[in-house]
Amino acid sequence: MPEPTPDHRPQTTDRRPPTADREARSTVHGPRSPQPATAEASDSVLGTRYSVLGTVSFIGAGPGAPDLLTIRGLRRLGEADVVIYADSLVDERIRAFVRPDAEVHGSSALALPQILDLMIGAARAGRRVARVHSGDPSLYGALHEQLVALEREGIPYEIVPGVSSVFAAAAALHAELTVPDVAQTVILTRVPTRTTVPDGERLRDLAAGGGTLALFLSVTAAARVVEELRAAGWADETPVAVAYRVTWPDERLLRGRLAELPAMVRAAGLTRQALILIGAALDSELRVRAPDRRSHLYHEGYSHGFRTSRLPRAARRRGANTRRRETTE
Ligand SMILES: C[S@@+](CC[C@H](N)C(=O)[O-])C[C@H]1O[C@@H](n2cnc3c(N)ncnc32)[C@H](O)[C@@H]1O
Repeated sequence: MPEPTPDHRPQTTDRRPPTADREARSTVHGPRSPQPATAEASDSVLGTRYSVLGTVSFIGAGPGAPDLLTIRGLRRLGEADVVIYADSLVDERIRAFVRPDAEVHGSSALALPQILDLMIGAARAGRRVARVHSGDPSLYGALHEQLVALEREGIPYEIVPGVSSVFAAAAALHAELTVPDVAQTVILTRVPTRTTVPDGERLRDLAAGGGTLALFLSVTAAARVVEELRAAGWADETPVAVAYRVTWPDERLLRGRLAELPAMVRAAGLTRQALILIGAALDSELRVRAPDRRSHLYHEGYSHGFRTSRLPRAARRRGANTRRRETTE
């Protein structure tokens, strides 16, 4: 049995299969008995080890399509006694992965105190809780306040990452967000709507240095986005894309130029669940117009910690071999 620990970090190398872990956990946890029942379990299918931590699993469900749930997320769902999922953003088909005897709640109609009561009550009763968020829980997931409450109550938890909608959108648009010499920075942000953003995070300031922008929760403020980016010096011709409900059956992808963004969004009637991507890397013609943009990593004239260039020295990528050897993956 692992030693009681003051926080949720893994503290043990005890290896037991998930079922044994579940049994151990349910005996460890009683009211006001918040020791983390941590264990590492062996995965007979993939031959890897994974950690089973805590009694509440925050799971990133991905952008929509149920097969974009991670294997770990799938397992936690299947193990859960209580599932609370963001039913306004997470496809209800994930319920197929939940045990028939599990208690399932949609969180869209619940306020935070009700969600916390459910989670904390179940965890104290030694039950496993899966709290399912859209995309990755660390982005606009209202995670902080839930973690505050669990830590205050001494309830152990883990966070299972998910595929964020930003990466699903890039995939759907067939775009690399970081094309060499075009953009090497991705800014994930939003503009203020009913939620404020901290001073110093104004879009015009963030965008002043260029890069690729991914704007969450901003589709209703498209005119403001244009205004801010113009103030940052972005050209009206800058490529933009809007990904609506990406990976859902009714997914829509719009492409255009910055100046057209408000009209595009209006014409499509988009008011929610859409991500705006902006920057030269989104140019659908980029591969035609700049096919030579490529990274050093796989360049035949570039040496790094795992590979030495076989090209004659004069033909090697400029600067590549005078650099400190580095691993770039
Ligand atoms: C509350 S945030 C959650 C973001 C989520 N944690 C993520 O990593 O994708 C909701 C916003 O994420 C974006 N979003 C989430 N799912 C999406 C999807 N399937 N397609 C497009 N945008 C999506 C939209 O900007 C939406 O307004």
